[in-house]
Amino acid sequence: MGFPAQRPRRLRRTEILRSLVRETDLSAGDLVYPLFVRPGKRVRQEISSMPGQYNLSVDEAVAEGQQARSLGVPAVILFGIPPAKDAKASGAYDAHGIVQEAVAALKKEVRDLLVIADVCLCEYTDHGHCGVVQGDEILNDPTLELLAKTAVSQARAGADIVAPSDMMDGRVAAIRKALDGSNLEQVPILSYAAKYASAFYGPFREAAQSTPKFGDRRSHQMDPGNAREAVKEAQLDVEEGADMVMVKPALPYLDVIYRMRQAVNVPVAAYHVSGEYAMLEAAAKHGWIDRDRVMLESLFSIRRAGADLIVTYFAKEAARLLGR
Ligand code: PBG
Repeated sequence: MGFPAQRPRRLRRTEILRSLVRETDLSAGDLVYPLFVRPGKRVRQEISSMPGQYNLSVDEAVAEGQQARSLGVPAVILFGIPPAKDAKASGAYDAHGIVQEAVAALKKEVRDLLVIADVCLCEYTDHGHCGVVQGDEILNDPTLELLAKTAVSQARAGADIVAPSDMMDGRVAAIRKALDGSNLEQVPILSYAAKYASAFYGPFREAAQSTPKFGDRRSHQMDPGNAREAVKEAQLDVEEGADMVMVKPALPYLDVIYRMRQAVNVPVAAYHVSGEYAMLEAAAKHGWIDRDRVMLESLFSIRRAGADLIVTYFAKEAARLLGR
């Protein structure tokens, strides 16, 4: 039974009708806002490739957290730029490290805000790699110990969720075991299960000063040609104890989000990354696209593909547009 009995346009005539039958919803409550924290006081340094995003001292990060929360955004995810870097990433698991201080301040000052700590070593190593390096190899098992120490120290500082983004094998199990051994069995793990070796992270690396000094991340991050492997990674992480899994980047990998949503029964997150933000901001600045509409359409698409939550630099802006 086709036309003229079928007229799909009937349900598109008015906004209220369209909203009644919309299959996907998007609200501020689905969003996570990333913050880059650095030492100092009253520091708010704009990231040149990410207009509107800043490297923030802890006091300024608290102000951002407050603002995000008041707009209805439930969570922030923290990245640290430590005062010093070394081969062992000491700043990552220092009880008074930059992320630990920021977590404590945000938990103290902002009511009802979830604070997620990104667990990786690349911001803290002098060579910029995500793990312990020997020659030009990134060693897997010795890195696990440092990642576990990092997660425990972040959780001790008050982090509500830890989110390993390093892509070492076995890190979820190692982190779960270490948390449980430290009376932190209530702290969930959001695993970056399918993190691709992506050029879309360029602006982030400027922001976090984490560009590797030699080589790249292709020996641990995923090959952009693979999707079945993403499902395998997610299943392994869930077996190891991941409470949520993430796909990253988002828009270039919507098929991966979709597959992961079908394959596992835990919440699926997507990271709408720095390069995705930068492209959109740049085109909008030239007047080539309508920033607000492209922003919301992008976020809707990520939700439609199956993401339950979205990490995005647009969190505050989108929350403003979406109301509460
Ligand atoms: C690693 C990490 C990266 C991002 C989040 N966590 C960068 C990388 O793997 O080099 C990228 C996020 C973005 O581009 O917005 N700590």
